[in-house]
Amino acid sequence: MKISTLLFGLVASTLSAVPLVAIAQQPIVIKFSHVVANDTPKGQGAEFFAKRASELTKGKVKVEVYANSTLYKDKEELEALQLGAVQMLAPSLAKFGPLGVKEFEVFDLPYIFDNYAELHKVTQGAIGKNLLKKLEPKGVTGLAYWDNGFKSFSANTPILMPDDLKGLKMRIQSSKVLEAQMRALKSIPQVMAFSEVYQALQTGVVDGTENPISNLYTQKFYEVQKHLALTDHGYLGYAVIVNKKFWDGLPADVRGQVEQAMKEATDFANKVAKEDADKQLELVKKSGKTEVHVPTAAERLAFKKALVPVHKQMESRIGKDLIQSVYKETGFDPSKF
Ligand code: LMR
Repeated sequence: MKISTLLFGLVASTLSAVPLVAIAQQPIVIKFSHVVANDTPKGQGAEFFAKRASELTKGKVKVEVYANSTLYKDKEELEALQLGAVQMLAPSLAKFGPLGVKEFEVFDLPYIFDNYAELHKVTQGAIGKNLLKKLEPKGVTGLAYWDNGFKSFSANTPILMPDDLKGLKMRIQSSKVLEAQMRALKSIPQVMAFSEVYQALQTGVVDGTENPISNLYTQKFYEVQKHLALTDHGYLGYAVIVNKKFWDGLPADVRGQVEQAMKEATDFANKVAKEDADKQLELVKKSGKTEVHVPTAAERLAFKKALVPVHKQMESRIGKDLIQSVYKETGFDPSKF
């Protein structure tokens, strides 16, 4: 063996034993993968976090954001996080079942939150914190909750009453609560990755879906759905999560700043979520591609009556105590429906 080859081998093996962060100011890279567009609350929150993390750590931390499923689709991204192929994600709370933490599906229960104030009592209080702790044994650390918004049903036929969804194939996220919700409406639930929904709606693989306005607008679902009913029947939000080993290994001189960047990004994303929904709804209306229906009080009540029984059905999956503790925070009374 030539002496130069040997020397190269020696240097290389010594270097590989040194933690990367110690090598000549290489930035620590956080790959943040997500499935929605950049101009959504999550997309904007991720970009904001990237900017603030870089500013606050003076370039020692570099966040690379991969939007719109460019790196991974729904199910793959959770596997990639556990393997350490990406460091950060913000999956919808409806997508943690496959990871084995089905309690997050409490957020999918129809009508459990009437507004953001009620929701934030849970996400920003003890219940939210305890739920994030359940991720630790999976090698995942939960950092924050980010809002998207309240969901509405869309389809190619008018949606006035619960029966209008009967027999329709409805795309859902991978949550058993959402499956039960669609069955309560006598529709046929179809779990599908977010990146496939537009085409599935366009080609008639599914007839309809449910999403907050932000996703409906930025993915252009409204172009391939003739009717939208502003049912606000459920919440869609995210848990920002990181690979636990990576997070625990962050050097002390950047940890505080990255945490601060996440705190600011959380406030920012939640503010955007509230502000953008109204603007984007106006744009959907203006497009003239979909007819927007605001349910009457009687129609809303009919949907509540059809869907609130799903809470009881899902007790064995989510936990009766957890559901009751959310009721206690929000004041929700299921016996009214
Ligand atoms: C969906 O799959 O409909 C949403 O979870 C997408 C998202 O991340 O908002």
